[in-house]
Amino acid sequence: MIKHPSGALGDEKYRPQFHFTPKENWMNDPNGLIYYKGEYHLFFQHNPTENIWGNMSWGHAVSTDLQRWEELPVAIPCTDEVGIFSGSAVIDYTNSTGFGTVENPAMVAIYTEHKNDKSKQSQCLAFSLDNGRTFTQYEGNPVLDLQMSEFRDPKVQWIDNQWLMTVALPDLHQIAFYSSPDLKSWKHLSNFGPAAEIGGCWECPDLFKLNDKWVLLVSLNPGGYQVGSGTQYFIGQWNGKEFIADDIQTRWLDYGRDNYAGVTFNNTPDGRKIFLGWMSNWEYAHTFPTQPWRGAMTLPRELTLEADRLVQKVVGASEIPKITFSTSGGSIRISENEDRFIEIGLREQKIFIDCTRAWSQAALPIPKEFLLQEIAIDTNAVKCEIFIDRGSIELFADGGKYAFTNLTFIDPALTSVTSTGEIHNLVTANLGQTHQN
Ligand code: FRU
Repeated sequence: MIKHPSGALGDEKYRPQFHFTPKENWMNDPNGLIYYKGEYHLFFQHNPTENIWGNMSWGHAVSTDLQRWEELPVAIPCTDEVGIFSGSAVIDYTNSTGFGTVENPAMVAIYTEHKNDKSKQSQCLAFSLDNGRTFTQYEGNPVLDLQMSEFRDPKVQWIDNQWLMTVALPDLHQIAFYSSPDLKSWKHLSNFGPAAEIGGCWECPDLFKLNDKWVLLVSLNPGGYQVGSGTQYFIGQWNGKEFIADDIQTRWLDYGRDNYAGVTFNNTPDGRKIFLGWMSNWEYAHTFPTQPWRGAMTLPRELTLEADRLVQKVVGASEIPKITFSTSGGSIRISENEDRFIEIGLREQKIFIDCTRAWSQAALPIPKEFLLQEIAIDTNAVKCEIFIDRGSIELFADGGKYAFTNLTFIDPALTSVTSTGEIHNLVTANLGQTHQN
């Protein structure tokens, strides 16, 4: 259901049909996720001219329903000296910056400026007075500069009558918090970390309230659940100055390989926390064999908190191809043929997803153990919901308490589904159909 600017669905090999992909060239992290005047804005790390990482700029797409996206021209381009790294966007309703007016408030992007000689990363502003279509750089940039080479990915929000920035100190495995009255002058509040998983750089943080708790998302690369990139989260309290974790046990957002650098939308109409991640892994992102584009986003997922666990529910799930079943011990096989299939099920109280036979080692060799994931659960029966697109599979088990996101080399239009063991209520909806608007 991704609509390209040409009006036609991309039909290249492994081109997802209901996940956002840029029409051409490289994409990584989602940036500047925000809802404004009826549109969801998805900015993204983009190389506008090549199908590999580089020339980092903010690409842009908009959607009214989070399912059909329209790609727009590059919003914030790189220069010869600097890349425009990850960040967020806000609407300055009170005109605290003076960039707009109260009647026509500015959309302000807060991004990391990365010097190409790797000497420095600092936080900068660019603003738009035309709903994100064109941006002007703030002449007083940078607005937050620690003279550090690793300092990036600001997530800014309006909380308790001031701007709050949550930003990563990647090699220190810390998240820093700053406050500001006007997005231009920033006061340091506190740092959180190192804690739990520190096997790689901490990047792309997000902080938000769910029920009476606060959740801090932290992506890290490498050192993920299985291999390479992964996202962990902490649950605790935000007291206006510090994030105080309830505990520092490891909690993974996703047990698959391919969900990284995800954050939530600012300003959703009903306050829902809607998450999008980059559906890839730095371990092999550069060589995933798609062209003329490389990179896709996960499906949008609404996050809620149940006890001490984030629960993920796909937004618009009823409209897209999916497979559902319950099992008390058994598995399903989604097969292209006898040799090529994905197996998903429950065995020895572990949910598993085996994509060993759904990969092309010829196209992209990776160790076999990366292709099987399993996780122990505390119930004897589990319900699974699976979204399979060209080149990817997303499994949500036990009502979304366990998510597994994986790139594959399977085309769902060619598949059939069979089962063994205790599999109940197996339903396949819209599988193999061509999706048109
Ligand atoms: C995460 C990341 C960010 C950085 C961006 C650069 O994938 O490394 O930390 O801002 O990608 O493209």
